[in-house]
Amino acid sequence: MVETLPAFGDQRRSDGDKDRAEPERGIRGESQANRRYLFFAEKADKEGQHQVARLFRAAAEAETVHARNHFNAMDGIGTTAENLMAGSQGEHYEFTRCTR
Ligand SMILES: [Fe+2]
Repeated sequence: MVETLPAFGDQRRSDGDKDRAEPERGIRGESQANRRYLFFAEKADKEGQHQVARLFRAAAEAETVHARNHFNAMDGIGTTAENLMAGSQGEHYEFTRCTR
């Protein structure tokens, strides 16, 4: 069974499992870079710098590949039922812990 990836910023589960800690940190970093580059691309488009936006989007896609590699290394993608549960748990965590 696939375990739920800890919600963003939750280090507690990683601390107790060294084998998972490194790929989880990798996923966080790569995911943040992905989103950051997509936001930068939007800004570049708004400023009319469409070629720069394309570069940011290409970099964002590369970060997705990197994140996927970390995710695959920890068998992070389960069945759809498991993924639904993992998503539900993650969203519950965010709502109950991160919005207080
Ligand atoms: Fe990367």
